[in-house]
Formats: sequence, C-alpha cells, structure tokens
Amino acid sequence: MFSLQKYNTFGIDAHCKHFVEYDSVEALQALLPQVVSEGPWLHIGGGSNLLFTKDFAGTILHSQIRGIEEVQRDEITVWVRVGAGEVWDEWVAEAVKRGYFGLENLSLIPGEVGASAVQNIGAYGAEVGQFIERVETVEVATGQRCTFSRENCQYGYRSSVFKTALRGQHVVTHVVFRLSLQFVPQLSYRALAGEVARRGIDPASLSAEALRALIIEVRRSKLPDPSELGSAGSFFMNPVVSEAKCQSLLESYPEMPHFPAEGGVKVPAGWLIEQCGWKGRRVGHAGVYEKQALVLVNHGGATGAEVWAMAQQIQADVKAKFGIAICPEANIL
Ligand code: EPU
Repeated sequence: MFSLQKYNTFGIDAHCKHFVEYDSVEALQALLPQVVSEGPWLHIGGGSNLLFTKDFAGTILHSQIRGIEEVQRDEITVWVRVGAGEVWDEWVAEAVKRGYFGLENLSLIPGEVGASAVQNIGAYGAEVGQFIERVETVEVATGQRCTFSRENCQYGYRSSVFKTALRGQHVVTHVVFRLSLQFVPQLSYRALAGEVARRGIDPASLSAEALRALIIEVRRSKLPDPSELGSAGSFFMNPVVSEAKCQSLLESYPEMPHFPAEGGVKVPAGWLIEQCGWKGRRVGHAGVYEKQALVLVNHGGATGAEVWAMAQQIQADVKAKFGIAICPEANIL
C-alpha cells in the first residue's frame, strides 16, 4: 500500500494500492488500458480538493505532463498551452512574468492546471473557465485524444462537464488558455475593491504584479497554508437560494450577506456555518478554521472519517437553523 499523505493537502494518511505517474500523452495512452482493467482508479491533481475517508483499493494516477508553450498571438491576445501537471500558482506566476494577463485574481490557489479545468477554480471575481480556449484530453474508454472548446466544457460554479456528464471518462492532458496582452485589473469582488481602496491604491496605477501580490496577501490572511495546517480550502460550496427564501431569512437575519447569482441569491456558507457556532471549533483532531468558517482543517493526525463526520454535523446544523442544504466542494472518497 502507498501512502497518500503527501498527495492530499488535508494531510490525511490514507493509502492506495498503486500510485502511477506519467509525463506524456503517449505514456498515459499506454498505461490506461491496464489501469482500467485492474479495477477502481482515480486521477488526482494536487490533492487540494480531496478528502479520503478510507483507503483507496485501486490505482491513483497523477500527471507529470509539464510545459508552458505560447501557441498563437495577435496584438491583444495570446494563446498558451500548458501541461496538466504544472502547479497552478507556478503557472500564474510565469504568466504574470511573461506579460500574459487575466489570471492574477486566481493567484495562490493550490492544485494543478489539469484539475483547475475540471473544477473551474475561482476566487475574487474570476473563474478559470473564462480564460480557457480549449481543453485537451485522452478518452479513457478509447485512448483517443480529444479536444473540448470552452463551450463544450460547460463551465458553471465549481463545475464542468468533466465533473458531471463525463465524470471519469476523460483525463485532461493540456489546457490552452486565452489571455490578454493588456492588463486591466479585475476589481469587481467587493472585498477586493475595498482592500484596494483601504490601502489608498489608485486602480489605474495598479500593476499585474501588485495585484497578484495583494491577492496573495489577502489569501494568506484568511486561508491556512496547507504545509502548516491541512485543509482543502473551502470545504463547502456557497448555496444558491430562491429570492423568496432569501427575503424570509433576511426578516430574521437582516445582516445576512447575500449576492445575486445565476438561479437565485448566493448566501455565503461561511456565514451560515459561523452563525451555527462552528467557527474555530474542534472535534478531536478535526476543526473549523478560526479565520474562515468555510475551511475545515486537520489539526494533526485527523482521519478523513473524523473530518467527514464533523462536516456532516455542520451540514445538519445549517439545515436545522436555516433550512439550507450545503454541499461539499471537496470530493469525498
Ligand atoms: N463569512 C463569514 N464568516 C466566515 C467566512 C465568511 O461571515 O467565517 C462571510 C464574509 O463576511 C463575506 C462572505 O462570507 O461576507 C464571503 O466570504 P469570503 O469573501 O471569504 O469568500 P467565501 O464565499 O467564503 C469564496 C470561495 C473561495 C474564494 C473566496 C474569494 C467558494 C466555495 N469559496 O469563499 O474559494 O477564495 O470566495 O473569492 O466559492 C475554494 O474554493 O477553495 C476557495 C477558497
């Protein structure tokens, strides 16, 4: 059995039968038939969105396909093909350095490029799907190379076709990003605009490097560093409720933060969890982060089952108090 402790940011000491890495599309195509015929398999990225509640009785695959290659440009746009195994934030840093703009708000998100396109990672008013031109995959059943346009990826909030209709059917090998050669800061996220104003920064003079540095600072102040405290970032997604439900909650909780969203009103799960008294609480080795209630943490030695039991208790408490079901963003295994 192979320990997965280093391969999940929660730091859960679960095991799998086999752990297989590959560094090219051809190598992936060559190994897939055997892996699939041997029983259960799972492809992971940086392990920043996973909770292993038990050992995995099969093969875990991990991409080492690297490379950042400019494939096309015109006066204002550049297209860049990136290997799925590149570390997400190293790619963002490289993009800013080369003068490819757009990804600054997604700085410091843990994980890898392949998973970013599956999960549609997002932060501070940006989502990766906006910057994706196409996604290259290998189809598991046939071993064939496929290309998905952004539209065919069906991006939604932390969702894509690779998580829904085609779950488990494709392995992402490369992502082609469409970025701008002209920097325009994206400051639509209220808390970010507030931070810029508070520091007396004139948005017109903000550079991409400075915006990236600011995002990194804000993230570090709110989210735990996985190398110090295990977590999977936001454990739950922010629920979207109907306009009527939101109004009725506002009668009891006039201070409840809420934001217009597709299909209704988004209510921050972090707020709901905090109202239930969970912020900073500990249950055994698991806990709720003291600075951000949406983040569940491993204080050291927690099992995945322990974290999941606490998560289910939180879901039940939020349901009982607010009548809202909150769903994990992390993949529970
Ligand atoms: N809030 C509380 N208590 C808390 C946490 C948050 O009341 O403990 C309230 C805040 O006051 C604020 C609102 O909730 O009014 C939103 O909080 P925040 O700006 O921290 O963002 P979030 O909705 O909790 C989302 C993403 C994060 C992303 C941030 C910034 C999800 C599930 N999470 O969190 O993404 O970094 O916005 O854009 O959408 C992740 O997915 O792993 C992740 C960290």
